[in-house]
Amino acid sequence: MQTELIRIDREHIPFSVMERAGALLQAGGLVAFPTETVYGLGADALNEEAARKIYAAKGRPSDNPLIVHIAERKALERIAEKVPKEAEALAEAFWPGPLTMILSKKECVPQGTTGGLSTVAVRMPADEIARELIRQGGGYIAAPSANISGRPSPTTAQHVYEDMNGRIPLILDGGPVRIGLESTIVDLTEGRPVILRPGYITLSMIREVAKEAEMDRGLTADDSNIRPKAPGMKYRHYAPKAELCIVEGPMERVISYINKNSAGSKTGIICTEETKGCYVNGDVKCIGSRKDEVSIASHLFAILREFDADGVERIYSESFDTPGLGQAIMNRLLKAAGHQRVDAADAEL
Ligand code: TXA
Ligand code: MG
Repeated sequence: MQTELIRIDREHIPFSVMERAGALLQAGGLVAFPTETVYGLGADALNEEAARKIYAAKGRPSDNPLIVHIAERKALERIAEKVPKEAEALAEAFWPGPLTMILSKKECVPQGTTGGLSTVAVRMPADEIARELIRQGGGYIAAPSANISGRPSPTTAQHVYEDMNGRIPLILDGGPVRIGLESTIVDLTEGRPVILRPGYITLSMIREVAKEAEMDRGLTADDSNIRPKAPGMKYRHYAPKAELCIVEGPMERVISYINKNSAGSKTGIICTEETKGCYVNGDVKCIGSRKDEVSIASHLFAILREFDADGVERIYSESFDTPGLGQAIMNRLLKAAGHQRVDAADAEL
């Protein structure tokens, strides 16, 4: 299959291209498109056959459900039942935007979209290209991140092309995404709202609207017997080819530890504007500034892909427990590292 990559000018979104992309979706085809979080791989969510093509293109396990993307608030009632008042309030506060809600599904949503579950994940993205595509594609677009399963999520159309060339007919290129980490997922089917995946919308933002909200215990527990509730959170994810290790502790000790362990090897280092001058060996990449957490979030997946291209054998990363987005950044980074971390405070230097 030939994969076409079309650059979209955000100032003048071309109707003819969007109409053609929408027709492809309505005919059961796949189209990759930008959102404010990461690029998505879209299919008609109400067409089981089309949704199944997503699993084949990504190599995704079929028990891992898809998020249904909508463009209008009223579309929610067509696919979800028993929408609780907290869900209404969260939609009011954060849609369109990087928030996904898990709700009871209606009959019209096929099991092929929800991985066999009786619930459905719904999100209304803010990106204008995404919203126009959803409208043209019939209003209900299932879209996981547009990467091969297990690889870092794509934050540019080039990342999508690397993974999906030859597998899908069309990629809409809207430039680099704004946030760079997938949406916050909140489960609203069990009484109090529970965050299943941290993202740009933080627990404290959600608590301003729904006071009772909490984090899924499977996300914070070190006990691996407590399983995360979002099926996708149990898979090793975002993994670069090299082994990745997160170095924690006071910054001077982190720098000394990494300098000591990176001599003479093909080592990658993930650091910040504040520390990039302190490293003496290796392939040093600056992820962003500690004063601007979005800069760190939006470069994480791209940096992991760059290290794959550079062919490093080991990567050390500083830790990014920043106040707002820190939890989401560390969630993705720890997954990419297969939870390998060292505390430089205790290490011999
Ligand atoms: O920002 C995003 O959410 C991006 C863009 C494209 O919108 N999409 C995305 O999709 O990250 P994906 O498929 O990579 O991640 C979806 C996550 C998976 O962990 C999946 O298990 C979980 O959502 N999920 C989907 N439906 C669910 C359900 N009914 N119950 C629990 N978890 C669900
Ligand atoms: Mg994904």
